[in-house]
Amino acid sequence: MEALRHNVSELGTRTIRGQDSLVRFLPALTAAAYPFLLRAFNALVGPPGTAPATPHVFGAAAVLVLIFCIPVLGIICAARPTQAVSTRRLAYVSVAAPTVYVFLGVLQSIVGSPVPDEVVWCALWIGAAILAELGRSKDKDSAPTPTLGRWRVAHGVAGAVVLIYVLFHVGNHLFGLIGAEAHAAVMNVGRRVYRAPFVEPLLVMALFFQIGSGLYLAWRWSVAPLGFHRLVQVASGFYLSVFILGHMNSVFIYARTVQGIPTDWAFAIGGPTGLIHDPWNIRLLPHYALGVFFVLTHLASGLRVVLIAHGVSPSTANRLWSAGSAASAAIAVAIIAGMSGIRL
Ligand code: HEM
Repeated sequence: MEALRHNVSELGTRTIRGQDSLVRFLPALTAAAYPFLLRAFNALVGPPGTAPATPHVFGAAAVLVLIFCIPVLGIICAARPTQAVSTRRLAYVSVAAPTVYVFLGVLQSIVGSPVPDEVVWCALWIGAAILAELGRSKDKDSAPTPTLGRWRVAHGVAGAVVLIYVLFHVGNHLFGLIGAEAHAAVMNVGRRVYRAPFVEPLLVMALFFQIGSGLYLAWRWSVAPLGFHRLVQVASGFYLSVFILGHMNSVFIYARTVQGIPTDWAFAIGGPTGLIHDPWNIRLLPHYALGVFFVLTHLASGLRVVLIAHGVSPSTANRLWSAGSAASAAIAVAIIAGMSGIRL
């Protein structure tokens, strides 16, 4: 009887351990599957100029939902209270999978790599999962230290400067819903300011500071389990650091320097094929949608912290945050709709 009880408890422990390793590897596994979901979507919508059959449209919509589930799953996994720091960080990194995949594709194209993106991608995630496993033995949970105070203030102040450009830029993309000409007209007005010789270097420097300080803050915050709002703030920060770096690489290095092409509406939407029907361009859809959503939600998160620090009740600040996040999602959907050809 005693032996039976021992065996049952041993089996239980092994099952829990088995489930734990499955959950540990889930962010890396789903992130590794990301390019294959993009391929499935592309196969279902078919090549340019074709109209997919109704079942294919539903299939493509279901695949698109799965695609967006990958960063959501990363956030859920990062929220688990008992786990090693390196496992939590791997989950945070998986949130950024859609933008890392665009960055990888552009870098591969710049160096003229003959290795398919999917192969490099899977190798990267296997490597990241191994690193996270090796890091587990050295890990121990500790609360973020209060010395982050100065960094947080500096990140917030520089963020307020960058905010002016980001709000204009995101607003500019909403004009795509009217048409390419309206988008270009607004961009031409903005370019006189943000491309001015003394403004552009300052903007780029401020963005580099945001990337560096943001990564540092996210790295430090990720040592401990976080509440929902802080978790989303850190996860969106991880995403944005890669997004902004990759996006500037696409605009300044790939388009303007290597290809010598204008960074206009056609460049943004992956013309002439567009976002939806092209097997490469489809990766831009989640990358841009989440870029817009996360940058606006990240701003709402910063505002929430500032409001609470200035005496606003947490419940009011949280309600404002929820409204801000819902608006961010609506704006992201509207911009992607315009980029995909929908017109008002
Ligand atoms: C739908 C989403 C987005 C699209 C389609 C997009 C597209 C573009 C395009 C076409 C340019 C070139 C602009 C020009 O030539 O004047 C550009 C530049 C830039 N974008 Fe975005 N962008 C998006 C979101 C964002 C977000 C969320 C950020 C910041 C977090 C951002 C940061 C930048 C920066 C820093 C530049 C360089 C500005 C310069 O020329 O000095 N973008 N983007």
